[in-house]
Amino acid sequence: MPKLRFRVKPYAHKKYKFLVRGKVLGKWRRRYFVTETEAIAFAEQENAKTGSKNSDAGSPPNEMALRTASPTGGPRSTAAIDFATLVTPTYFGPRIRRYLGDSWCMHLPFAYDLMRELAPKVFVELGVKQGESYFCFCQSAAENKINVRCFGVDSWRGDIQTGDLDPQIQQEVAEYNWQYSSFSEFKAMLFEEALEDFPDASIDLLHIDGTHTYDDVKADFESWLPKLSPNGIILLHDVILRDRGFGVWKLWEEIAREDNSFLFEFGYGLGVWKKQPVGSSDSFFVRRLLGANEIEGRTISEYYANAASALALWQSVEGQSGAGDQVARLKAEIEEKARHAAQLQRELDERSQQVAQFRTEVEEAARLAVQLQRENEQQSKLLEPLKNQLKTSHEELLDARWEALTLRGTLARKADLVDVPSSRLLELENRVETTTSERDQLRAMLVSLQSDLEQERLAGQAQQSEFRATQAQLIQMTKDLRSNQKQMDRLRESISGRLILPFGKSQRKLRQLTGSRTAND
Ligand SMILES: C[S@@+](CC[C@H](N)C(=O)[O-])C[C@H]1O[C@@H](n2cnc3c(N)ncnc32)[C@H](O)[C@@H]1O
Repeated sequence: MPKLRFRVKPYAHKKYKFLVRGKVLGKWRRRYFVTETEAIAFAEQENAKTGSKNSDAGSPPNEMALRTASPTGGPRSTAAIDFATLVTPTYFGPRIRRYLGDSWCMHLPFAYDLMRELAPKVFVELGVKQGESYFCFCQSAAENKINVRCFGVDSWRGDIQTGDLDPQIQQEVAEYNWQYSSFSEFKAMLFEEALEDFPDASIDLLHIDGTHTYDDVKADFESWLPKLSPNGIILLHDVILRDRGFGVWKLWEEIAREDNSFLFEFGYGLGVWKKQPVGSSDSFFVRRLLGANEIEGRTISEYYANAASALALWQSVEGQSGAGDQVARLKAEIEEKARHAAQLQRELDERSQQVAQFRTEVEEAARLAVQLQRENEQQSKLLEPLKNQLKTSHEELLDARWEALTLRGTLARKADLVDVPSSRLLELENRVETTTSERDQLRAMLVSLQSDLEQERLAGQAQQSEFRATQAQLIQMTKDLRSNQKQMDRLRESISGRLILPFGKSQRKLRQLTGSRTAND
């Protein structure tokens, strides 16, 4: 076996992760690559020139030259066309793992590149079926470490073009997805049902590949368009088919413009359509694609058609080669391992979720503990006076209890002494109570009476003082009367002395007369 000249080595760089190194005529030659696929392809190409083989590289067994530089300027444009060295075919495009040779297979190299170059945050595919296109996007996302969430929507019931689908397909596709389950999930439902799961302007790359009649594809396009982000891109498959009810071509004619669309006319036609006209905020890849003139467009189409053909050839030769069985076995083994890895990944995700949840709970508990501690301190402060009060009350209660005990003891001793039966005591108590109540009633009555009495006393006082005043008036009047009487008497005396006295004799005589007459009568 000839000695290897060019070897692939891991390389620690922000962008370039692989280095291909080889000595040519005593001098080291190095080249740096983003992906391992490109590095291996380059090493193989170089070794093929010298007849050496790179067993480390794990290259496709049958090689076909595809030595064109990527016209869209992706990182694969390292190899230059060198027809003079074209001795064996070499395919150094991405090795698509889920290659089914179905209707989408001719666009797989482009899908792989688009995912890497566009690096969408959200990718949605409407119509997954067996996942040939979907898993190519996922493979690229995984290998190129794209931070994307992928969603595949399908009822897995089939449609008028595919016919009814074997129920096994959905199960097999779900199992295959395990290896990408950290960023990819399926929604087994109708497209319109999935609409509400996606906010407006949230999808950066949307692949519409459901039912291909004009009405259906137009309905899918119009209902999902609001979900597309401002710089978002829509892919439409089967654009060039015009028979058997296919009507995507008609929609394409309605929406395609010069500054926002590109059509790959091979492989049933893949339309690339951007919501906004292509501009400076788009990646170089998208600008080259959607801004391509006719000649550039043809170059791009040829490039991807060649890549897809080379891939198809490699796949078919691989299938037919003597190593086919071994390859199939290895493939199955790899898929089993991928499934196992996916299972482990899911368990890991679950554990991480549990740990995260536990951590959240612990943090919450710690926060609550601090809060409780604080509240506790505040309440302790508030409780301090209450505690003192309680202490005092408690002491008072103890005193009272002690007193009660003492009294009870005294009572018991007295009860012992007098030997009063408890019924008697009860009777006495009742009597005391009755008496107390009667006493209280009496006291109330007394108070009432006292009040009446007081009122009457006051009234009496008032009458007495009135009486005294009247009495004083009477005394005064009596005095006045006596004085008047005296004056009268004196006056009478004085009158009788001056007036009556001269008639004394006559009067006496008269009296005598009057008296004699009376006696005669
Ligand atoms: C052409 S196939 C998809 C091919 C796939 N992209 C591939 O790479 O092979 C169309 C798929 O769309 C699904 N489909 C069609 N109309 C649908 C709808 N309205 N809702 C959900 N799934 C639908 C079908 O079940 C079918 O699996």
